[in-house]
Amino acid sequence: MRKIISVANRLPVTVGRSITKSSGGLVSALDGVAGQFDINWVGWPGTSFKNSQRAKDVEKRLIEDYNCSPVFLSKKEVSAFYEGFSNGSLWPLLHYMSQYVDHDERWWDEYQKVNIYFADKVMETAKKQDLIWVHDYHLMLVPRLLRKRRPDLRIGFFLHTPFPSYEVFRCHPHRSELLEGLLGADLVGFHTFGYMRHFRSSVMRLLNLESQMSNIKYQNRNVHMGVYPIGANSGAFIKELSTDRFEKQKDIFKDTFLNKKIILSVERLDYTKGIARRLEAIDKFLDGCSYKENVCFVFVAIPSRGEIAQYQQLREQVEGLVGRINGKHATLNNTPIKFIHQSVDFTQLCALYSIADVAMITPLIDGMNLVAKEYVACKKDKPGVLMLSEFAGAAGELFKAVKVNPYDIDEMAEKLSYCLNMPLKEQLSRMKGMYERVVEYDAKYWAKTFLGDLEKYSGNKPIQATQTVNSLSLVKNKFASAKKIACFIDYDGTLREFVDDPKMASPTKQIISLLKQLQKCSRVDTYIISGRKAENLSEWFGDYNFTLVGEHGYRYRQAGTDQWKLLADSFDTSWKKQVIEVFNQYAGTTPGSFVEEKISAVVWHYRRSDPEFGKLKAQQLISSLSEMMTNMPVEVHHGKKIVEVTSMQVNKGVALMKLTRGKKYDVILCAGDDQTDESMFRIENDKLLKIKVGKGDTFADLRVASPAKFISMLSTAIKSIK
Ligand code: UDP
Ligand code: G6P
Repeated sequence: MRKIISVANRLPVTVGRSITKSSGGLVSALDGVAGQFDINWVGWPGTSFKNSQRAKDVEKRLIEDYNCSPVFLSKKEVSAFYEGFSNGSLWPLLHYMSQYVDHDERWWDEYQKVNIYFADKVMETAKKQDLIWVHDYHLMLVPRLLRKRRPDLRIGFFLHTPFPSYEVFRCHPHRSELLEGLLGADLVGFHTFGYMRHFRSSVMRLLNLESQMSNIKYQNRNVHMGVYPIGANSGAFIKELSTDRFEKQKDIFKDTFLNKKIILSVERLDYTKGIARRLEAIDKFLDGCSYKENVCFVFVAIPSRGEIAQYQQLREQVEGLVGRINGKHATLNNTPIKFIHQSVDFTQLCALYSIADVAMITPLIDGMNLVAKEYVACKKDKPGVLMLSEFAGAAGELFKAVKVNPYDIDEMAEKLSYCLNMPLKEQLSRMKGMYERVVEYDAKYWAKTFLGDLEKYSGNKPIQATQTVNSLSLVKNKFASAKKIACFIDYDGTLREFVDDPKMASPTKQIISLLKQLQKCSRVDTYIISGRKAENLSEWFGDYNFTLVGEHGYRYRQAGTDQWKLLADSFDTSWKKQVIEVFNQYAGTTPGSFVEEKISAVVWHYRRSDPEFGKLKAQQLISSLSEMMTNMPVEVHHGKKIVEVTSMQVNKGVALMKLTRGKKYDVILCAGDDQTDESMFRIENDKLLKIKVGKGDTFADLRVASPAKFISMLSTAIKSIK
């Protein structure tokens, strides 16, 4: 079994007077994963003692009995790192609750320091093949700290909260450091596409980096991003439902609640969970309810972050509201709200889920919300209605829930009546579809898919700095032993330096001389592979015996013919209309820029605009595109003075593979200078000799500094072919 080092602020167990299970969604999900993998846990044991004999004893016990390596923190560190920076600054920001965001520069100092402690702890045991899995907002700097010290490690990061829109995230005083911290990972995972899109857009705008749909180039590496909605530990709930202790507990509750309709809420006492608004909706519902003696609202509010002022105020507010509503609606036979500010044990939780007629889960925002999934997991072939906030990550998956807007108190009150009066048949059919999903996509599935991808992506060869010095001798050696050679050569930026007007970039004397040389060499088949249109390529290269490939691999003209054919049979271009509209807006507001439409691509050129203004507008354009193009089959890239959107179904790499299929080449040289050429460089094939011309990250093996140097190198290499 591969070893996994799971690094989260909170260990699965908390050390108090005794050692108990910790609370919260992260711990619950990881609980469901524990038996499946060989996991070592690194985290904080939940209490502050440090450098004492007690710490040593506890450490020994945690390692031996629980596979946990504790990171001990002092009171000051807990206060600044956990209560301050993590939960006073980051938590509200990530949840769009700007009114609660606080910041103190001393918190940031402690946050950096504690992240170093965590990285140090990982370094004590990490081996090259181990998978390091870092969790959540407390440890955003850890991936980078680890990468710096051990570039070979396989590092994944999963964010258990939402990632807010750029407009919100940009407010944080340490926004860039936090993002760069995460980019130390090989894979960064989120619960939903929306969160991933926001992260990507923040990285592009704040760090000015290039990104494709699911990866970002950063310091010669590819950082992958992915969507992995966390699942509940469904198996554990299902198993518990078949025990005698569960049946006993259920009977006890049945006696307690005496056939009343039970509406259940379970959550940490947190301002993101929408408790106060829910209570107001309940008040409204009770105002118009004719059967209020027969309803009972059970609130399990798990104590959470009680040292933080906002949480203390929330507790006061909620307890005040519960008191007021109970006072208003209680009768001698019934008190409508049962409010428990305590954890419940697992059997009690299962029994509550099982007997609840309605689960009322109305967070103002929630990364996922496992409680909703756990409720469903306890309802196999049983009635029950899930009322769920549309702002919970889980709302995207639990499609048969009754969705509510948690800010709309009237709507929540009305929908409560609807839920309580839903016909049995409808309850069963809604629950069935959700149950199947919750059981199949559980915590194990979540971990397996994340770790599987981490393994895949972290094995990737890094984007190489590539050799510049010996490219000539290497190319010469390869050519010397080859009977048949293919040269796929890009034009602009590879053979020809850029000029202001693309139409003026016709081949120079030096280029023509190289092309003639290639034409004469019978062992070489030449392919000019460019983003330019067919007509343009015919005009400049039509007289040579070369195969021409235009529009990034969409059309080609076989050597010796003058007919252009399509390389792709059919592909989706429905996205073009929308892209052209946006490009036209940018062309209109950026003097000197213009839009070019191709069959498989749309390009915005700004080489004739003011360089600084053009670059700024290009960055803005890329951010707008990244928001807009999610789920479309396209790639957006920022090339040399262009922003280009191309179909993912057509690219130079696909063209190269199609055109060389069945041909017996011993060497396939491919040369290019920009993003569109990377699709050729990404192909894994020993026969390929990949040459990047100019600066920038690349998957190529060799690099030459400029078109002039490339021409001279290729010309010398061809001369050496006998
Ligand atoms: N839970 C708990 N103690 C309890 C009751 C529930 O730890 O007394 C668990 C619950 O089963 C769920 C988790 O707390 O797995 C809450 O996770 P959720 O994703 O709903 O919210 P989070 O705490 O992550 O904000
Ligand atoms: C959320 C966070 C977790 C955290 C949990 C409990 O689920 O995403 O990282 O562990 O709440 O909060 P606590 O502050 O008690 O660890």
